[in-house]
Amino acid sequence: MATLQISLIIFLSFYRCNAQVNQRYYPRYHLAPPYGWMNDPNGFCYFKNEYHLFYQYNPNSSLVPGIAHWGHAKSSDLVHWKHLPIAMYPDQSFDKTGVFSGSAIVENDTMYLYYTGNVNHPGKTPDHIQRQALAVSTDGVTFTKYKSNPIIIEDKHQPNLRDPKVWEHDGTYYMVLGNSFNNDSLGRVLLYTSEDKINWQQVSILDKSDGFLGFMWECPDFFKLNDHFVLLFSPQGMKAEGSKYRNLYQTGYIVGNFNYSSKQFKPITKFRELDHGHDFYATQSVLDKKGRRVVVAWLDMWDQNYPEGPDGFTGQMTIVRQLSLTKDGHLIQTPLPEMKSARGKILCRGRASGGTTVFLEDNAAEISLIVKRNNSLELNIEPENSLSDGQNRTSVKILYDAQSRTLTLDRGGPDGIRSTAWHPKKIVKMRIYVDASSVELFAGDGEVTFSSRFFPDGNLQVRLGDKSVAEYLQITQLKPTVSFD
Ligand code: FRU
Repeated sequence: MATLQISLIIFLSFYRCNAQVNQRYYPRYHLAPPYGWMNDPNGFCYFKNEYHLFYQYNPNSSLVPGIAHWGHAKSSDLVHWKHLPIAMYPDQSFDKTGVFSGSAIVENDTMYLYYTGNVNHPGKTPDHIQRQALAVSTDGVTFTKYKSNPIIIEDKHQPNLRDPKVWEHDGTYYMVLGNSFNNDSLGRVLLYTSEDKINWQQVSILDKSDGFLGFMWECPDFFKLNDHFVLLFSPQGMKAEGSKYRNLYQTGYIVGNFNYSSKQFKPITKFRELDHGHDFYATQSVLDKKGRRVVVAWLDMWDQNYPEGPDGFTGQMTIVRQLSLTKDGHLIQTPLPEMKSARGKILCRGRASGGTTVFLEDNAAEISLIVKRNNSLELNIEPENSLSDGQNRTSVKILYDAQSRTLTLDRGGPDGIRSTAWHPKKIVKMRIYVDASSVELFAGDGEVTFSSRFFPDGNLQVRLGDKSVAEYLQITQLKPTVSFD
């Protein structure tokens, strides 16, 4: 009875809280916190025929990350999400200043959540300590922290040792952890193994920074894709280089070979950014029930002070994307075909000449576009009747320059431009997801993506530049996909 009452109170507070959030920038079909602050995706898994996705969550304020909890949502198709009660609170001595990021494995209808317990010690050296812990669930709603937590207490790798990503292979359990070494000046990823999910030993260093790749590697992920292994992580402290690495922190990958006997990873590519937009961080992947490697990221970036904060929420997830690997070691990201189930009314379809303008409904749409390979393109996503382009983060301009083969996203304002080289195959093909305050652009077959936030006031329109011609333009409304009850 008491549990029922508590669940009811939590549910009602979710409902009430979301009603308090100003809806102008709140996503219609991306997962965002009901109220409060969201960062990294956590514990992404398939459990009893449903996907579960957790996230770093501050239920008390949308203005600051605060002390992290694990927020929770589930889905049957990776498109429609349902919010669930908070899964984990910072209620233990070893996680009292944050139930930090982590991952899940599922075995025998039991979900095992691995996470980092963070404890701050202000004014002391080091000023925080991070230990790994375990929580277990058999119903997918209530989580019991393991009685002998924390399970990894590594004094020699402190104080930055976090974000466990766990998997099983041939009866052994593997965990990668992000770490900083050399007096917190260089990032790296450590590999651990366990035979029983509880006792873990460090067995190797998968890869490390020589300085170029920054001072700390957050949210590591490691998986086999086709015939190679991918080390995906979020390095902090890389320096911008031309159009590369322009965000505060990056997310990218190194492809290589991995030997389960020697536990050594041999890179065969350099580090490459996974996305070229302003707001893409802390990815987490899972193998889905169809055997696809799917990934989700935080569609935001640290220290941005975006105007949604005072509205009652901060942060959202990207849509779930499928990953594949090209022969030359590039990751391809594609929206899931399941996104079709979110489609509503078709707002326009066919050839479109320069200046074509289409008004969106509810600021949520999927745009599909084809342009001849040697033609440049300008596409604007902007408030209706907007008088000038390039205002401070209120609109987005997508430019493909056929001469220099460059793709650019410009959201205006300081540091508004992101661009990268792109050599389209036969035609210029794009799929763009617009959702109240975000844009996710998939170029070609998904070989180049841009994920960025922008903050339009009022209804959005999509407008083709005066000199642009689209051989095909389809704009489809996307319906809300997230429920709170
Ligand atoms: C990445 C990160 C993680 C950490 C979490 C805390 O964005 O800094 O390394 O576990 O956020 O919320």
